[in-house]
Amino acid sequence: MAKPVSIEVWNPNGKYRVVSTKSMPGTRWIYLLIEQDCRVEICTEKKTILSVEDIIALIGHKCDGVIGQLTEDWGETLFAALSRAGGTAFSNMAVGYNNVDVNAANKYGVAVGNTPGVLTETTAELAASLSLTAARRIVEADEFMRAGLYDGWLPHLFVGNLLKGQTVGVIGAGRIGSAYARMMVEGFKMNLIYYDLYQATRLEKFVTAYGEFLKARGEQPVYWKRASTMDEVLREADVISLHPILDKTTYHLINKERLATMKKEAILVNCSRGPVVDEVALVEHLKQNPMFRVGLDVFEDEPFMKPGLAEMKNAVIVPHIASASKWTREGMAKLAALNVLGKIKGYPIWGDPNRVEPFLNENAPPPAACPSIVNAKALGLPVSKL
Ligand SMILES: NC(=O)c1ccc[n+]([C@@H]2O[C@H](COP(=O)([O-])OP(=O)(O)OC[C@H]3O[C@@H](n4cnc5c(N)ncnc54)[C@H](O)[C@@H]3O)[C@@H](O)[C@H]2O)c1
Repeated sequence: MAKPVSIEVWNPNGKYRVVSTKSMPGTRWIYLLIEQDCRVEICTEKKTILSVEDIIALIGHKCDGVIGQLTEDWGETLFAALSRAGGTAFSNMAVGYNNVDVNAANKYGVAVGNTPGVLTETTAELAASLSLTAARRIVEADEFMRAGLYDGWLPHLFVGNLLKGQTVGVIGAGRIGSAYARMMVEGFKMNLIYYDLYQATRLEKFVTAYGEFLKARGEQPVYWKRASTMDEVLREADVISLHPILDKTTYHLINKERLATMKKEAILVNCSRGPVVDEVALVEHLKQNPMFRVGLDVFEDEPFMKPGLAEMKNAVIVPHIASASKWTREGMAKLAALNVLGKIKGYPIWGDPNRVEPFLNENAPPPAACPSIVNAKALGLPVSKL
């Protein structure tokens, strides 16, 4: 018998039972559900990461849908439990869903939602922040000030890297990678080299137009290049930011051999998923190359760091906060709730998961559609004509 898990209940007499494994920002997502006759149960357990047993206890005997988190292991066991409880809807409160076994969800006929479109700029802004923080050694300098060590201006004090005119490398130029590339090109006039399985046409056009704009003003233009291999990016770029999805093809994409091909003073940023980088190899590389710097939002064994990383002065490390702006987190909560609600109500799937603004409007009811269901095709769910 699983231990009971503490919850907070909204609209106790609602017809559909929706469980959220965490309290999420804002209350709009709760009202969107209770206005449509849902009883909403929010887990209030103090521990950060719920076990599979905790979630089974939350699902209970009757549950129509669950909103879950990327820290949870949504596989065969949980989808079987949700299906037994009569549930057909699950949504991650995240755009990535490497914590979800989509095949298992398909087997039990459970729709899997994610929350694209609202994380793009916020995540790209954190990647840009980490790039600057690493380039200008801001954390080291801040610690130095607070320790009372500053006794006057010195020519060598915390000398870092100038970004202007250098090359930014992007691996995975999808939504977030492209937004980050634009920020670094537009904001710091860096040249761009990128690697992706697909051509980032809009990004290329933007950099071309921006380069022409600069040239017309008598300034040094910016250039872009689509690399034919990832290694080309690693060899040529001064700042490299990782933005691919995590799957078998991107696991340990950055390893010992590839780190060795990067410039000695390069900056590596990871706001994708921890296992994209072999963190043990990274710690060793940071030790051997004090001018190589890294900015990390994600870690291979989250919430833990590999031994030695915390001691490295050339690493800037933050606790997976890339999507942590109020607008984004509230938007993620709304989209996750509407994915679950839409499936419960039998709504079709929104045609373009990248254009989710109509679901975010606080003053108008959202469209009668599921904003983003990743296994819609596999489940044969209809697409909205709205
Ligand atoms: N740190 C955070 O809080 C945070 C926030 C949001 C997203 N993310 C991560 O960022 C990822 C990207 O998000 P997105 O919205 O930009 O997704 P996206 O699907 O728009 O972009 C991913 C890109 O990676 C490319 N790609 C896939 N395999 C590749 C490979 N082997 N080599 C190079 N490129 C490859 C794809 O072609 C695609 O263009 C998510 O899957 C998620 O894991 C992290």
